Parts: sequence; C-alpha cells; structure tokens
Amino acid sequence: MRKALVAGNWKMNGTINDVKELTSKIGLAERTDVDIMVAPSFVHMHSVGEILSGTNILLAGQDCSEFDQGAFTGETCADMLSDLGCTHVIVGHSERRQFFGDDNKRVANKARKAEIEGLCPIVCVGETLEERDSGRTIEVIERQLCAVFKMIQNKFIIAYEPVWAIGTGKSATPEMAQEVHQNIRQYSTVHSHLNGSDLRILYGGSVKPDNADELFSMPDIDGGLIGGASLDSESFLKICCSAAKLIN
Ligand code: 13P
Repeated sequence: MRKALVAGNWKMNGTINDVKELTSKIGLAERTDVDIMVAPSFVHMHSVGEILSGTNILLAGQDCSEFDQGAFTGETCADMLSDLGCTHVIVGHSERRQFFGDDNKRVANKARKAEIEGLCPIVCVGETLEERDSGRTIEVIERQLCAVFKMIQNKFIIAYEPVWAIGTGKSATPEMAQEVHQNIRQYSTVHSHLNGSDLRILYGGSVKPDNADELFSMPDIDGGLIGGASLDSESFLKICCSAAKLIN
C-alpha cells in the first residue's frame, strides 16, 4: 500500500518570522493518515526543525550538492541536511534544471549522494510546454528517470511536475497527470530494479485546495508537491485533508 504524502516546497520565500509562523500552524496538524513534509530554504531549516521536533511532520531539503563536504562555496551537502533532521531531499526540480544547469547526470549524482547519506531523494521530472506540444513528454521523462535508475539502489520518490504547470495556475488535468504517472510506474518496473507499483509518485504544478480532490482521486497519484499553496497553512492543510481522504 502506498501512503499519501503531501510535501510543501517553500522555495526561496519568507522572512524567518513568516516561516516560523507558517511552521507553527502546520505543526499543529496531528495526522497519521497522510505523511506531511515541508522543504524550507537552507537558512530556515534549523528553526523549522526545532519547531517541528516532536511532531510527525517530515523535513526535506530543496536540493543538495553532488559533492561531499569540502571547498564548494555556496553548496549544501546531503550529510549537512541529515544532520539538521532532514529525512528527504528534493533533487532535479525544474527550477534547478532551468536556472542552475542541473542536467540529468548531475541530478542522478545528487540523488546518489542523498541515498548514501540515508536521505530519501524526491526526484522531479517533467516536460516543458514545447516538449509536450511536440509529443515528447514520455520520452523526456523516461530519459530523466533512466539517469537516476543507473545511480540509485533503493526506493525513492518521484514527483511529476510539468514545467508549464508550475506557478502558472494552470494545472495538468487529472487525466493528463494520471497518464504520465501510470507510464512512470510501468517504465520503472521494466527498466529498473524497483517495482513500479511500490513507488510513491507525487504530482506537482498549481495544486490548490480546489483541484486537489480531482487530482488525488486518480489511481496512480500518491500525493502532491505543492509550491505556492504551501505558503498558506490553511490551503496546505486542506490539500493534506484531500490526500488523506482520497489516497491510501
Ligand atoms: P506551484 O504549486 O506553485 O505551481 O509549484 C509547484 C512546485 O514547483 C513544487 O515543487
């Protein structure tokens, strides 16, 4: 059985006070029927971790270095994240791929470093609008996944985030997302040592309280990776309720 998971990717947002307030509100959610996770910026991680200690809300990094500790100015490595209480780390987010040059190989290296440090990677995959329009969605996603399968030994989480749906208010339809999720499951079974039906696959891209129900009612969607709506505790917790109600 795949348990529902809703993760908030806070990206580069908020003052320390904003983030503490948001964390305190989310920390009040005492749910066992859905895994709830937040990914604050690195500078806020310690404070967020302190507020969440003693709760069952999980902590994730938004990225990690492909290198181990050393002279890499500005980088944050996986063991630093695990030292701060993170259990998961997002790698390959499309914003990293688009603005910071993270290609498939680097994303796979990051996922491997995370795995070595005992963190579960959340590997983001997804196509641009141009790739979708030219019928290359599945091909692009399979290439993104293939690179990671070569490097990773254990189970990891996949987040399907169509680039054109991120921060645009234009979510994929439930049917579009389901088609890709189903494909990812099949591809994983055939082309990796993992059993696709055990993999948790999240959908991300303009998930809001008013479209969460229809997305989460799809059989291969196991939860969401939430950007904008995760910065509002009420919206985020509503999305968590939808996941608990419709998945599992
Ligand atoms: P939005 O929910 O703001 O579209 O962002 C999705 C996302 O990028 C989560 O990682």
